[in-house]
Amino acid sequence: MKMTHLNDDQVMQKLKNQHYSAQSTYKAYFSTWLGGVTTNPSLMVLPMDDHLVHRGDGVFEAIKVVNHNIYLLRPHIDRLFYSAEQIGIQSPLSKADLIQVICETLKISQSENAVLRLFLSRGPGLYSTNPADSVGAQIYLCVTELKPLPQEKFEKGVRIGRSQIPVKNDWLAKIKTCNYLPNVMMKKESVERGLDFTVAFDDQGFVAESSTENIFIHTKENKLVHPGFDRILKGTTMSRLFDLVEERKLLPVLRGVKIEENDLLQAQGLFMAGTTLDILPVCEYEGKKVPISPMAKVFLEMIREDQKMATSLNLDYRKG
Ligand SMILES: Cc1ncc(COP(=O)(O)O)c(C=O)c1O
Repeated sequence: MKMTHLNDDQVMQKLKNQHYSAQSTYKAYFSTWLGGVTTNPSLMVLPMDDHLVHRGDGVFEAIKVVNHNIYLLRPHIDRLFYSAEQIGIQSPLSKADLIQVICETLKISQSENAVLRLFLSRGPGLYSTNPADSVGAQIYLCVTELKPLPQEKFEKGVRIGRSQIPVKNDWLAKIKTCNYLPNVMMKKESVERGLDFTVAFDDQGFVAESSTENIFIHTKENKLVHPGFDRILKGTTMSRLFDLVEERKLLPVLRGVKIEENDLLQAQGLFMAGTTLDILPVCEYEGKKVPISPMAKVFLEMIREDQKMATSLNLDYRKG
């Protein structure tokens, strides 16, 4: 390859000429590094020496926006700050300033519905593991298009299997770090097996979670149960659903249950929960049919209604 030594204008031109289809789903990008917002996807870049890039040293959130309403904004921001605190990253923006940045970036994007990709990184500075080498933590935020799953998945259910990827230890599982290799491998194995999701089990054989989704059960005894948050990520979607079910006294709920593989096969219904997918019923586990819970439609409608409501957990960004 003949090497070209590019001048600054050529670098800028090269960046601007980088086009690929995913870019059409990127609506606006803010970073503390740029100190502003760009809507040009080719320029939504960050420094190569940010420890986020070469060590996975950062934390993140995916947040849904429905009808201008930033859904479960407060729990997401709280979890971002909890994750950052666990690995000793101090946000360059306070929670209030970050929320304002999110609202302003959304206004520029003019999106009614979106998924926010929010990152809090260790920041740029040397290619080391040493956090002290960073010049300071950074925020990167991209407003992306919301692409809902096909309706069929919500009606007919999804197919899941048992993961072969070693489960993360409790401490790491509770932090939403950008160090997501086991989660990536879980997604890879599910794609290769032609499944929608795989589910990890902890070293004692109890159900943990999926790549970027929680799993919960509607038991034969008519209870709603999920694994304990001492071993998995505290999902905002599943937590909200359990709160709503409890408030409305639909079913008794138990948070923090040790669930065995056999419990999955005996259940009245299994569900996957997560920000981008909402609440999905499961129709098959490891090649065995499992019933779709009679509550599947109710749960989905409850969450979808909740996404549009003005509650203390949500924020209409036009008012933010
Ligand atoms: C490992 C893991 N578990 C569960 C979830 C679901 O969490 P939430 O409902 O807040 O999206 C996620 C979401 O990103 C995740 O990464």
